[in-house]
Amino acid sequence: MRQRTEGRGFATRAIHAGERPDPTTHAHKTPIYATATFAFDTAGEKEDAVDRALAWEPGAYFYSRTGNPTNRALEEKIASLEGAEDAVVSASGMAAVASTLLAHLGSGDHLVVGDELFAITKVLLDEDFPRRGIGVSRVDTTDVAAVETAIIPATRAIFLETSTNPRLRIADLAAIAEVGHRRGLLVIADNTFLGPALLRPLEHGADLVVHAATKYLSGHGDAVSGVVSGAKALIDPIRQQTDTFGQAASPFSSFLVLRGVRTLPLRSRAGSDNAAAIASFLESHPKVAWVHYPGLDSHPDRAVARRLLGERAGAMVTFQPRGGLQGMAAFTDHLALCDIGVSLGDIHTLVYPRPKDGGIIRLSIGCEDVEDLIADFELGLSFVD
Ligand SMILES: Cc1ncc(COP(=O)(O)O)c(C=O)c1O
Repeated sequence: MRQRTEGRGFATRAIHAGERPDPTTHAHKTPIYATATFAFDTAGEKEDAVDRALAWEPGAYFYSRTGNPTNRALEEKIASLEGAEDAVVSASGMAAVASTLLAHLGSGDHLVVGDELFAITKVLLDEDFPRRGIGVSRVDTTDVAAVETAIIPATRAIFLETSTNPRLRIADLAAIAEVGHRRGLLVIADNTFLGPALLRPLEHGADLVVHAATKYLSGHGDAVSGVVSGAKALIDPIRQQTDTFGQAASPFSSFLVLRGVRTLPLRSRAGSDNAAAIASFLESHPKVAWVHYPGLDSHPDRAVARRLLGERAGAMVTFQPRGGLQGMAAFTDHLALCDIGVSLGDIHTLVYPRPKDGGIIRLSIGCEDVEDLIADFELGLSFVD
């Protein structure tokens, strides 16, 4: 067997990790193992596979809700990129968030979370957690002292998004991990907005890293998928939660995400470089009221971003055209190239207007030619009064 991953660089692992020629056919690319069950010659072989799979042994399969080789290839690839011992994929980013939190918190426990979170994560925390007897305190995670103050004896974990939606606030993850570990807590990071090419939270002290693989990992907007990575002892209960709550990933989605992850380093570089140019363009434009981008000196977390992320600051940009709701619609409704849509992390640039937030616009910058994107935004802004 060729040794393709140990000690190799990030881009090499994005392509090779978790994948090997199919052992029966020698197919070069990982196939979609479209099967519900796995078949055995003897009762003993079947029993052995069931026992090993339900003890969460990698590579033991008997039923695809519990484990599937296409899903496993993706798990091994992501674990390699995150620098994690193990990973588990699931049906969506929300499946990954929910199964992670519910596997590690129960009745009487308390969770400290960031005050700016993905909307459906908020629904989970606001509407589902109270029914389960799990308490939640929200804090500004860019204020490490506030995080520490929010910890109570029942607190079990801290959960934050590494770059928040929509203000793109970036907390000092290492400082929060230090506080969390000193207080005996799990530190869980949702890294969806940045992805592992730009930030690997486990390297900064987080215990678990969650992704909506739907976004940058897939990169092509054609799959819904989630993944969480960390130590096997922390992943095993999440794998069990994913199985018992029926949140298993589809191998079809995992095939698409596997294909997407192979180009993650290239896409992250291109998207981030485009976003930096667009953020500067917007900031200097007279029809723009303000821009949030952690790569700009005007962003409150510029220094933390530089320390955590290095020279690149991600491909998300939030801004507001002048003129409130009218300015927002004048911009979005005259774009000739970019589509209006709610997702992110796609090679297509996506424009997400938020009328309920006063007309701010979130941009997920893709990998198109930056001159074409700037021309499109210039066109949209020309209709703003
Ligand atoms: C930060 C964050 N976490 C989790 C999710 C949920 O992912 P999914 O839509 O795949 O369930 C999203 C979706 O946009 C997200 O932005």
